[in-house]
Amino acid sequence: MQNKLLCYKQYHKRNKHRIAPFCGLLLAALCGFTGCGTEHNEAVTSISFSQDDSTGQFAADDGHTITIGFAQVGEESDWRRTNSDSVRNTFTTDRGYNLLFEDAQNDPDAQVSAVSRFIQQGVDYIVLEPIVKTGWDKVLGDVQKAGIPVIVADRQLTLEDDSLYTAWVGSDPELEGDKVCAWLHALAEKRGLDESQFRIGIIQGTIGSSPQIGREKALREAASDYGWSIVGSERGEFTQAKGREAMDALLEKYPDLNIVYCDNDNEAYGAIEALEAAGKTIGTDINNGEIMIVAFDAAKKALSYVRKGLIACDGECNPFLGPEIEKVILALEEGKSVEKIRYVDEGIYAGNQEIHSVIVDGKTYPVTQVTQDLLEKRVY
Ligand code: AHR
Repeated sequence: MQNKLLCYKQYHKRNKHRIAPFCGLLLAALCGFTGCGTEHNEAVTSISFSQDDSTGQFAADDGHTITIGFAQVGEESDWRRTNSDSVRNTFTTDRGYNLLFEDAQNDPDAQVSAVSRFIQQGVDYIVLEPIVKTGWDKVLGDVQKAGIPVIVADRQLTLEDDSLYTAWVGSDPELEGDKVCAWLHALAEKRGLDESQFRIGIIQGTIGSSPQIGREKALREAASDYGWSIVGSERGEFTQAKGREAMDALLEKYPDLNIVYCDNDNEAYGAIEALEAAGKTIGTDINNGEIMIVAFDAAKKALSYVRKGLIACDGECNPFLGPEIEKVILALEEGKSVEKIRYVDEGIYAGNQEIHSVIVDGKTYPVTQVTQDLLEKRVY
């Protein structure tokens, strides 16, 4: 039985790799006719996500088991736990999958080792959510030699050779940052605030991760454009505990800061604890001593804080990636071509109605006001 399964998989894999280049050519030809693609010649799309894991129509139901090695980052945040659940709920035994789940506990070396083990284990696909952007060329080169397709999800990576992965699906952290910064600027304009008085402390996520790099890049560019001061930064590692420590350190070093830019919601929860313990008032009235917090993820708890005024603005980062990863895998199983890059659509949330939308690179993004009804419907 085991032998039969292996033979089937090997046959199946061989077929898949014969079909893929043909599909690539077909896609290239179609793109030539329709004008799709980007200046980098990659197929890039943006997709909408719902707040659930509806996977029914994509079940692998032709009787064979697909083994997936999933290299997860860790358990640092609510976002990450929801993302892990999304993957686990999608790739179930009942639906024809054997999911090998490796939690690297935020250790980049451990994550590289996990990917190497997947090669030894002869998995059909590797799904990688990279902790940091760099350091992947060697191991993904080994994966390519082993003929295993790699789907990168959530975070971005930087490679010498982009053919080392088959497809990527996830967020655009720089755009998330741009939207939150555009909101800050719009609020200043609306209220007539002097932006040279913005004194911003950053609580950073894992250094070298794409959300840390992208969100901070957006902030630094906005600061330069609008004359904001970035007083300093501390590492929060995307966790509540470290977020609290980082906030304590920022308050000690820069007691006159008036805005805190948190790389995720859990860091914001820690910052709120620290600010409340220090007797500070949290809010948007920075001219009268309040300290304003902005954050990323838009988890349900964070949106309840937005509603209470504890977080002024929250840029969404969507964790429900399991079904989209599955779409890629099932397309590959059928020998179909897949888009190389698929960005998820993400919103931006605020507690007040002052700013209805923000514009980034000429595109308008609505700002959703957090209502009680929205909170009740929010899954995560
Ligand atoms: O990569 C997504 C980021 O990682 C989320 O913002 C954060 O909460 C998570 O840990």
